[in-house]
Amino acid sequence: MKGIILAGGKGTRLYPITVSVSKQLLPIYDKPMIYYPLSVLMNAGIREILIITTRNSLKMYKTLLGDGKELGLSIEYIIQEQPRGLADAFILGEQFIGMDNVCLILGDNFFYGNDLTGILENAISRKNGATIFGYLVQNPKDFGVVEFDKNNKVISIVEKPKKPKSRYAVPGLYFYDSSVIEIAKKVEPSARGELEITAINNEYLKRGKLSIELMNREIVWLDTGTPSGLLKASSFVKTVQERQKTYIACLEEIAWRKKYINDKQLLEHGKKFEKNNYGKYILSLLEKGSVAV
Ligand code: DAU
Repeated sequence: MKGIILAGGKGTRLYPITVSVSKQLLPIYDKPMIYYPLSVLMNAGIREILIITTRNSLKMYKTLLGDGKELGLSIEYIIQEQPRGLADAFILGEQFIGMDNVCLILGDNFFYGNDLTGILENAISRKNGATIFGYLVQNPKDFGVVEFDKNNKVISIVEKPKKPKSRYAVPGLYFYDSSVIEIAKKVEPSARGELEITAINNEYLKRGKLSIELMNREIVWLDTGTPSGLLKASSFVKTVQERQKTYIACLEEIAWRKKYINDKQLLEHGKKFEKNNYGKYILSLLEKGSVAV
């Protein structure tokens, strides 16, 4: 299973903040936004990762994450010249995906919760077809909206419908088999001029190969693409971290717990940031019994 993080786009909902800075590098409390989707992939055991971003931002992502080796990952990069739509990820990522299955996560989507692991495992265990997720929201009109029957069989998916058929939004986390490449190549631009991910999901639905997993209320999914969304996500991270004394999306910790890196490597990571709380937290992991598992 390979992973793609889509970290391009113009971030216009955050202008003027994002006129000169890539949205997915902005802080969610104490870490760059991209740490959060990357932590989801790592927690799902996905180690081969492609980051798609703009020409202007590429250097900054490479400075931040490099080739991933220090975290026991392999990270590659591709430039998306124009924000042609989410489905473009699979056209740009064709060689990277090859014959493998692939998980796409949007660089501005924030997920948190213990129950996440189980539903990700279900999605990964399906070797054929696609898996999307459903999440109950107040404002379905702002998202892709999925309608399903009582057996969780998907009936329809509509991108930003004026009259939503349900209150279940489709979060920016998707699992596909490698036929997604051919499907993406055939997608026509929508009325807003984008290659929509919803068009891909509808094609899988038509082929009878689309599964849905519902995210329950134990899972937190936040959109971080607006000033208020950024603030809410930051407050959430701060509150949980201070309360529990454990960090959300500490990549070094995840790599260490997954045994991608050893104690010595974790120590080196900790020393890099030892003057701040992030570094101190990493170093504290090596003191037995100090942090909850
Ligand atoms: O957040 C979930 C929603 O994401 C889904 O419910 C929708 O079905 C899906 O279409 C998408 O809707 P948005 O309109 O919110 O997507 P947006 O254009 O904001 O792009 C999402 C992220 O992907 C954002 O971080 C920028 C990045 N992006 C976007 C486009 C269009 C790219 O990197 N390249 C692109 O071409």
